[in-house]
Amino acid sequence: PPAPPCALVIFGASGDLTKRLLMPSLYNLAHEGVLDPNFAIIGVDRVEHTDQSFREHLTDAVEELAAKNHPIDREVWQWLVSRAIYITGDFDGAGAYEQLKERLASRQTDVGDANAVFYMAVTPRFFATIAEQLGAADLLTESDTAFRRFVVEKPFGTDLASAKALNARLLAVAEESQIYRMDHFLGKETVQNVMALRFGNGMFEPIWSREYVDHVQITAAETVGVEQRGRFYDATGALRDMVPNHMFQLLAMVAMEPPNSFDADAVRTEKSKVIQAIRQMRPGEAATHVVRGQYRAGEVLGKPVADYREEPDVSPESHTETYIAIKCMIDNWRWNGVPFYIRTGKALATRRTEIAIHFKRAPGVLFRENPDCTLAPNVLVIHVQPDEGISLRFAAKVPGRKVRLAEVDMDFRYADYFQSAPSTGYETLIYDCLSGDPTLFQRADNIEAGWAAVDPILKATAAGMIDVHGYAAGTSGPTMADVLLAQDGSQWLPLERERPR
Ligand code: BG6
Repeated sequence: PPAPPCALVIFGASGDLTKRLLMPSLYNLAHEGVLDPNFAIIGVDRVEHTDQSFREHLTDAVEELAAKNHPIDREVWQWLVSRAIYITGDFDGAGAYEQLKERLASRQTDVGDANAVFYMAVTPRFFATIAEQLGAADLLTESDTAFRRFVVEKPFGTDLASAKALNARLLAVAEESQIYRMDHFLGKETVQNVMALRFGNGMFEPIWSREYVDHVQITAAETVGVEQRGRFYDATGALRDMVPNHMFQLLAMVAMEPPNSFDADAVRTEKSKVIQAIRQMRPGEAATHVVRGQYRAGEVLGKPVADYREEPDVSPESHTETYIAIKCMIDNWRWNGVPFYIRTGKALATRRTEIAIHFKRAPGVLFRENPDCTLAPNVLVIHVQPDEGISLRFAAKVPGRKVRLAEVDMDFRYADYFQSAPSTGYETLIYDCLSGDPTLFQRADNIEAGWAAVDPILKATAAGMIDVHGYAAGTSGPTMADVLLAQDGSQWLPLERERPR
């Protein structure tokens, strides 16, 4: 069904996120026909624009994208862009908010027109300021006929203390139900599909525990380097950028208990519980449970890549990690003793995000005589991206007189079964926010649980207790990451393996 009528107020409207992600996603939603005829975009930013020049700015960006990807339907785009207006102003002065109030009031012709979603496409230091200004201008008060929601992008804080402080400031001016904390991984179909796989099938959940699972590997490998984000990234690093948010969302999806329902709070409560159960590392453990890496010059997909320390806006002496691998233990009944290994990094050999459940091996007694047989574990891999799907690895007899086993894969690919429109993953999240479904957004306690689990690693890093190892760009990361698993008798699934067709 179409989302209710509403004004989407974008703070940071002339910035990169708006043109790269928000507008293409809104276009896709418009194309799908799920935006209300009374939908409007109100851009707010410091850069000077008139309504007309703002529309032209957005159109240029979308045309640039269209040249690269699929063609756009001009009629749909016109429908969307003609609904955009612009306010020039500072985020920390009252002026912009007064204008905003007038603009919003002038929309109040019909019931529902006063609905507004405030979207923070701005640098994080403005999140709380904007919320407070909106509060002071009385723009966050909801009524029976109008909702007011506030969308915050990541990064949400830089550690536990700052995330708590930010939550406190937001919650001083808005209710929890009005705050939509975005983690775009939750917009990905394959991430949502983990719940369908686990709870919509009878055969997986009975074996989904310490009794049958040996360990779990969660990988988010990227081929891109820091690109133009050197300043942000060098102050942030792979741990903060990816782990308490995206990686823990993947972990929560595979490890949480079945919620009582798909009600937003039921799901988010189970996620919080499992993230809270991640064992906090003692200072001495960090050095053996965490591997940090930083890329050196190399070649990715045939193209030369510079040493990270020579990237624009990166300190030549930087110790920031561009790769991190962590062994997490979950202290609850289901997962006691089962390691969850997480790895994520930039400038790696291949782009691949996946969750691999490694099951315990079958006893080898029957195949003892067979010299070339080591019983490989069954592995269920959830391919998050690209080439979305699920595969199951098991042993089969190689045809012939001798009993020999080989590993084979059963493979499900989304593309073979479903045809869905290209998506940035943002569509789902924006639509949910316009429609008031917070299931795929993070509650305050979800965010704080994530930071609490990584805080000891941040502290150990700051104290110089975890070295950073160089790895050549275009490889699968530092060799120390292999040692992390070898200590436990395991090994990573190769990053570059082929998937059978
Ligand atoms: C972002 C990080 O949140 O997620 C980026 O800041 C990272 O550094 C990106 O590249 C990965 O998202 P995706 O959807 O491309 O896997």
